[in-house]
Amino acid sequence: MKGIILAGGAGTRLYPSSLSISKILLPIYDKPMIYYPLATLMMADIKDILVITNEADYENFKRVLGDGKRLGMNIQYKIQYVQRGIADAFIIAEDFINGDDVVLILGDNIFYGKNLSQVLKNAKKSNRGATVFGYPVDDPERFGVAEIDDNNRVISLEEKPAHPKSNYAVTGLYFYDNRVCDFAKNLTPSARGELEITDLNKIYLAKGLLDMQILDKSYVWLDTGTHESMLEASKFVHEIEQKTGKKLACVEEIACKEGFIDDSEILKSIEKYNNDYCNYVRKALEKQICSRI
Ligand code: DAU
Repeated sequence: MKGIILAGGAGTRLYPSSLSISKILLPIYDKPMIYYPLATLMMADIKDILVITNEADYENFKRVLGDGKRLGMNIQYKIQYVQRGIADAFIIAEDFINGDDVVLILGDNIFYGKNLSQVLKNAKKSNRGATVFGYPVDDPERFGVAEIDDNNRVISLEEKPAHPKSNYAVTGLYFYDNRVCDFAKNLTPSARGELEITDLNKIYLAKGLLDMQILDKSYVWLDTGTHESMLEASKFVHEIEQKTGKKLACVEEIACKEGFIDDSEILKSIEKYNNDYCNYVRKALEKQICSRI
């Protein structure tokens, strides 16, 4: 299965902070925002990743993540020249996907919770067509919303409805089978001129091939699209890291844990840095090495 991180967009909501750099490269507490969706894909054991960027930040994204080799991954990049909507990702990425199954995560989505890695791996394994994740929120009108029956089956989907039929937001993490590019190509732009991810999900729903897994409140889902939500996310990450002594979305630690790469290669890649993040990576990897002996 391939992975896509959608990290284009003009970021106008964060003006002037995003004038010189994509919001997805701005920090959430102690690391760039993109580390969080990258870590989520890694926890699903996805090693082949395409990052879709805006034109201005293409080189910046490459500088931050590189080709992925140091993490035992393959990271490629493509530009979305016009903000044509989230489902446009599958048109841009068709060659990269190359007939495989694929998971898309939005660059501003952060997921956290117990056994998340297992939840993601299960979704990957059991996906029959499309699998999305529902999360209860107080302001569903800001999101794609799923109406569900008593057995948690999706009845309807709506994008930012004025009168939501439930309080379940559809989060920005989507698993699809290999028909997704063909379905995306047949979408027509919505009233706001975008190829909507919700319209793509409706195609799978109409075919009876859409599953939604509910993430209850023991999980945390954050859409860091505004200054307010970025601050909330930074505070959350800081608090968890202080409390547990563990870093969230530490991609080097995950690469090692998931067996993507040998510890020595990661340690070599950070040997010239002496800061809080790299010192944590050193200690975390040492612990893993000891636990294997
Ligand atoms: O976060 C979950 C929500 O994401 C879903 O519940 C909605 O159904 C979905 O439409 C989306 O809503 P948003 O209002 O958050 O979408 P937004 O336009 O903010 O785009 C989300 C990210 O995707 C953002 O970081 C920019 C990027 N993006 C967006 C579009 C439309 C692109 O890279 N290219 C695009 O063309």
